[in-house]
Amino acid sequence: MPECRTCGGALTEVYDFGRQPLSDAFLEPDKLEGEFFYRLAVGMCGACTMVQLMEEVPRDKMFHEDYPYYSSGSEVMRKHFEHTARDFLDTELTGPDPFIVEIGSNDGVMLKAIADAGVKHLGVDPSGAVTERARSKGIRTRTAFFEESEALAVVAAEGNADVIFAANTICHIPYLDSIFRGVAALLKPNGIFVFEDPYLGDIVERASFDQIYDEHFYLFTARAVRNMARRFGLELVDVEHFGVHGGEVRYTIARQGAREPKPAVEELLAEEDARGLAQLSTLEEFGLRVTAIKDDLVTLLTKLRDEGKRVVAYGATAKSATVANLCGLGPDLVEFVCDITPQKQNRVTPGSHIPVRGPEAFRDPYPDYALLFAWNHADEILAKEQEFRRNGGKWILYVPDVHTV
Ligand code: TYD
Repeated sequence: MPECRTCGGALTEVYDFGRQPLSDAFLEPDKLEGEFFYRLAVGMCGACTMVQLMEEVPRDKMFHEDYPYYSSGSEVMRKHFEHTARDFLDTELTGPDPFIVEIGSNDGVMLKAIADAGVKHLGVDPSGAVTERARSKGIRTRTAFFEESEALAVVAAEGNADVIFAANTICHIPYLDSIFRGVAALLKPNGIFVFEDPYLGDIVERASFDQIYDEHFYLFTARAVRNMARRFGLELVDVEHFGVHGGEVRYTIARQGAREPKPAVEELLAEEDARGLAQLSTLEEFGLRVTAIKDDLVTLLTKLRDEGKRVVAYGATAKSATVANLCGLGPDLVEFVCDITPQKQNRVTPGSHIPVRGPEAFRDPYPDYALLFAWNHADEILAKEQEFRRNGGKWILYVPDVHTV
């Protein structure tokens, strides 16, 4: 029986997405040889309820010098993190010698406002090029994987932290035991560990199965996070649910006894129980919806191709690797994907080998249909691409079901 990566309990597999590539490994078109694949499957622990991948991809295959994801690529996300930074500056970072550490600080989208305010900060991120970008903006950053030994090195060099923050990072890290030991060592006695990640409740509700890929090793709930924290002398003291990235929860964790848990924690736990988020049957039903979406999307794209319509995709997201490879999409069904990230352009998508072009290709001329791979940025993208629909174009969405708008 496979074991839970966090508590060692029995892990039951609930959905197999099959053979999948590294979701952020965009390839040069003439270098497709030797592409790495693994089996993407998701399961739930019967003991601590943690939902997780059945197979782990080695971390340095995913996060390295050329990791191509830049957090500052979305205007909405820039505002979200600016707001987060202001909040910390107003609440937690007001003492005599405040210090904030961010795990997975990427290009410094959150720490920028902290640095500008002259408050002591440190980003820790293993991906070379994105950390270089952060440093060029004046943000103190270590290029390293955060883990217990790195946390101890930070304590020795910089002292303890009031706040440890992480966005869309903790769910990427299989070895959470080392993370939580590191956090416990790095936090000041009344410090807080705040992290936000895609929420299983939203994934199940919207059938947003493409939130499941190599980098998203865990799909958190408040229950699973609380169980995890308690094993390290820590307690879940607050939760906040918000809409970015298709639905996320921000968890606030403190040392046990240091802070009174807010009522929001019990409320979310009760809601999770009522929705059966810790029950296998809920995930099995989710799996049936995934299969239906896959069938509907393939049927629609095949029909459009047979009718001679032009279909391109919008946003070369990591998420889209799961959709494209589960559905067997390729350049025959999707002409190209447009994306603003220079590091992804003129390459092809992992596994599915669909060419990636810059945003200008989208309107040169507009296609008949655009498959919105970056559906989590739908408001932002539909607002700036209104001309596409005025020209008769239609968006194809595939969560919570396949439909056009
Ligand atoms: P995102 O959904 O944020 O994350 P992930 O890769 O983890 O699934 O990725 C958004 C991608 O979409 C990123 O490559 C940038 C691109 N993008 C555009 O091309 N245009 C846009 O207007 C926005 C908001 C994003």
